[in-house]
Amino acid sequence: MQQTIRTRAGPALVEEHAPGSSLGAIERQAKDCRRCDLYKYATQLVFGEGRRDARLVLVGEQPGDKEDIAGRPFVGPAGVVLTDCLHEADIERSDCYLTNAVKHFKYEQRGKRRLHSRPNAGEIQRCAWWLGAELDQLDPHVVVALGATAARTLLGPSVKVTRDRGHPIATDSRFTILVTIHPSYLLRIRDRQAATAERSRFIDDLKTAVKLAKGSE
Ligand code: URA
Repeated sequence: MQQTIRTRAGPALVEEHAPGSSLGAIERQAKDCRRCDLYKYATQLVFGEGRRDARLVLVGEQPGDKEDIAGRPFVGPAGVVLTDCLHEADIERSDCYLTNAVKHFKYEQRGKRRLHSRPNAGEIQRCAWWLGAELDQLDPHVVVALGATAARTLLGPSVKVTRDRGHPIATDSRFTILVTIHPSYLLRIRDRQAATAERSRFIDDLKTAVKLAKGSE
């Protein structure tokens, strides 16, 4: 059964955002973002990338170490998993638009390593400005929330990935939201059988999103 709920990100930002700005203009503004302190430690802001006319938009949590250096979303290990799973779900990454809820890498320095650190509620909320502005410029049929941070940014704090994953959630924005796990979760499962089963479930969720985006579900 489809639920209809209010999305927070899009409308909240768009109200504050100058109407008519292009995605390129928004990206240029975002590069100077000082809305929270994460810009001080990251190499650069990582904006979304992909087709401007994508029917499917995927939203992750935040750039990781590799993304921070490359300046592009999902180019590290989680990105490889995501790209492969999209392919298996019958859609190419190049047909989608990929972005993150938070646009700067947050990490803890441990010796030479930079360990991922989860963004806090204030950082997520401040950065939702940019995600909303992106979504306002794009025209997706479906937005896939990859993991809890993206899901909460788009749907609010009551969403639960384990309970809500895989079910299309109708919104009063132009798009439907589909919540699923973050692909990095697949890299953390040690048991091989469990990892294979979870990967299949993730691909099934992506297939549902693809079908919805193509208007066949
Ligand atoms: N994890 C994310 O959530 N986003 C990226 O871009 C890379 C890893």
